[in-house]
Amino acid sequence: MLLELKKVKKYFPLPQELFQKEREYVRAVDNVDLTINAGENLGLVGESGSGKTTLGRIILKLYPATEGAVFLEGKDITSLSNKEMRPLRKNIQMVFQDPYSSLDPRCTIRNVLNEAFVLEGKVVFEERIKRMKGVLRAVGLSVSSLDKYPHEFSGGERQRIAIARALIMNPKLLILDEAVSSLDVLIQEQVIDLLKELQDKYDLTYLFITHNLRVVRKLCQKIAVMYKGKIVELAGTEEVFSNPIHPYTKKLLAAALDYKANYQEDEFEIK
Ligand SMILES: Nc1ncnc2c1ncn2[C@@H]1O[C@H](COP(=O)(O)OP(=O)(O)O)[C@@H](O)[C@H]1O
Ligand SMILES: [Mg+2]
Repeated sequence: MLLELKKVKKYFPLPQELFQKEREYVRAVDNVDLTINAGENLGLVGESGSGKTTLGRIILKLYPATEGAVFLEGKDITSLSNKEMRPLRKNIQMVFQDPYSSLDPRCTIRNVLNEAFVLEGKVVFEERIKRMKGVLRAVGLSVSSLDKYPHEFSGGERQRIAIARALIMNPKLLILDEAVSSLDVLIQEQVIDLLKELQDKYDLTYLFITHNLRVVRKLCQKIAVMYKGKIVELAGTEEVFSNPIHPYTKKLLAAALDYKANYQEDEFEIK
């Protein structure tokens, strides 16, 4: 098992009103159990605000969980200090939605990629350059990209650069948070094909976060459907497509496959 989440919760406190007795919370992630096996991509789907990004950030330890535990290859990483986490951190990398804001416009691609090495301490110059060129080629960009700036690339190319940056550390798990959502459909397909290629080459496993079920089908063996902080359905991809159980899953599917599903809005409420 590559990753396991046990009863993970993340509650964000809401601003407290004067005279209000009890503090209220947004239950962004609410009691999530989830496992990811090595080599088995998981699509985490759900509408905006369902808690997908928060879950990704907890796995990366960018947020502490309110409760619950995260295990990486069987090791409980929940309460590790930054120092203890350091040698493990490179194993999990994340690629975000917006390649425009995630790449510093003042940095050349060489600088962008070079920054990724901070996680690894001393890596000699020649070795760095060799690895930078290696990942650039792997994502289908030329090595001359090293001396260019982010604005000189298209949206799809920038996302390739973000993927290259994540690959430098040779991660085991790559979390892609709406990583193709802002791209045109055709470019989306190209990036998905690239991800498949990279998976074989680098022995990767993807946690693919998206609101778009159609894209998930091409890449993921399993789908977890998130709704209001909870996983409401978890099954093999084709199973979800052919026999969705939860009404919310049916709605998502209907949107993806463009038909009118037979469900009622109030059926979603979790009792
Ligand atoms: N840092 C934060 N502080 C307070 N509330 C947050 C924070 N991050 C997310 N939320 C809230 O948690 C819920 C889930 O958000 P998010 O994880 O971003 O969902 P998704 O990625 O599925 O769109 C939303 O209601 C959001 O407003
Ligand atoms: Mg999000």
